[in-house]
Amino acid sequence: MERPDKKNIVIFASGSGSNAQRLLEHFEHHPQIRVAALFSNNPNAYALKRAETFHVPALLFSRDAFYNTGEVLEQVKSFHPDLIVLAGFLWLVPQNFLQTFPDKIINIHPALLPKYGGKGMHGLNVHTAVVQAGDAQSGITIHRVNEEYDKGEFILQAHCPVMPGDTPEVLAARVLELEHKHLPEVVEKLLLK
Ligand code: GRF
Repeated sequence: MERPDKKNIVIFASGSGSNAQRLLEHFEHHPQIRVAALFSNNPNAYALKRAETFHVPALLFSRDAFYNTGEVLEQVKSFHPDLIVLAGFLWLVPQNFLQTFPDKIINIHPALLPKYGGKGMHGLNVHTAVVQAGDAQSGITIHRVNEEYDKGEFILQAHCPVMPGDTPEVLAARVLELEHKHLPEVVEKLLLK
């Protein structure tokens, strides 16, 4: 299953997994990089099905296995990740992961951090806050993960306009398009540099 000649991406996703899908597609036939596994904390996450469609191992885990027993850490290690990508993953990453994979964990956030980040700032909450604030621009931030939500070093930001009359849903769709465009490129660059 695993070929040591390729770099390994491990994805964590809690929801739909459209960003995971973009990574699965982008690296499906890539000569140097593969998606080695997708992990989810949510049994209803459509992301799990997307991984299965690509014949990528899809692993469901519990809070206890993630935070207390070290089981998830051991499972992730077995895939020898060169990069761990949080693509719509809603739980805070524990210390043992940060220590084992320093600088190897990245997250994608659907706003221009440091604004609109932190606990609870995910999904439509983010876009609702941006629309209510009347900001002229929104965008995405791809950043390294540390012990606080949405606080790690920025890797890339990309912008899009907020149009007059945008609903949070309309803005979400525009931002998601940016995510889909940039995430595979950034992941590839990080792994091949
Ligand atoms: C994306 O907006 C991502 O930035 C955020 O969660 C959302 C996940 O969307 N962290 P999807 O599950 O990849 O479709």
